[in-house]
Amino acid sequence: MSDVNVVWHEHTVSHQERVTLKKQQPVVLWFTGLSGSGKSTIANAVERLLLDNGKHSYLLDGDNVRHGLNKDLGFSDSERVENIRRIGEVSKLFVDAGNIVLTAFISPFRTDRSQVRDILGEDQFIEVFVDTPLEVCESRDPKGLYKKARAGEIKHFTGIDSAYEAPLSPELHVKTDGITVEQCAKLVLDYLDAKGYLR
Ligand code: PPS
Repeated sequence: MSDVNVVWHEHTVSHQERVTLKKQQPVVLWFTGLSGSGKSTIANAVERLLLDNGKHSYLLDGDNVRHGLNKDLGFSDSERVENIRRIGEVSKLFVDAGNIVLTAFISPFRTDRSQVRDILGEDQFIEVFVDTPLEVCESRDPKGLYKKARAGEIKHFTGIDSAYEAPLSPELHVKTDGITVEQCAKLVLDYLDAKGYLR
């Protein structure tokens, strides 16, 4: 809800001035995929490569953000929608500050991802589909959550009894099965490089 008594304040330090100082092209790398697909692991590897290239970045991670900013949110559809809306807004602030942002959230709904794209604009949003088959995620089960979900101990678990809407035309489609984390990260870096984000 917006309040008519809250008025936007224009500041004198511009986005472009921050970008010029940082000598990089701010953008959001939006990793989406099932739980256990490798979003956080790949995003972390990409961030390491960015740092090695002297780029300022920040990784927003689902599990971590849910310990702080979004600790009031659970996993119903409406709470996931709010989770992603907030992360979209936070990402926008980081991009305004001149950073390369990496986000690792399941972000299961197309509409929500599309809204974040709209908030940021086409040239500042790169959707990275971390495509790992459900069977593979479930066999990894790093946190034992699939097992609990199958046993009915966790409700609304993505891929089991809550939907995951795969991207239809992501900028990057990373099929993780059979390739290493480093190879996945390199694909992302090569894309950024080819599109001029690392100039
Ligand atoms: S979402 O759908 O984007 O709002 O989810 P996200 O904020 O990325 O949080 C996903 C992590 O929360 C843990 N978890 C669950 N995931 C899916 N469904 C249910 N019900 C659930 N409950 C807890 C799980 O560890 C997810 O981490 P990742 O890294 O994706 O495996």
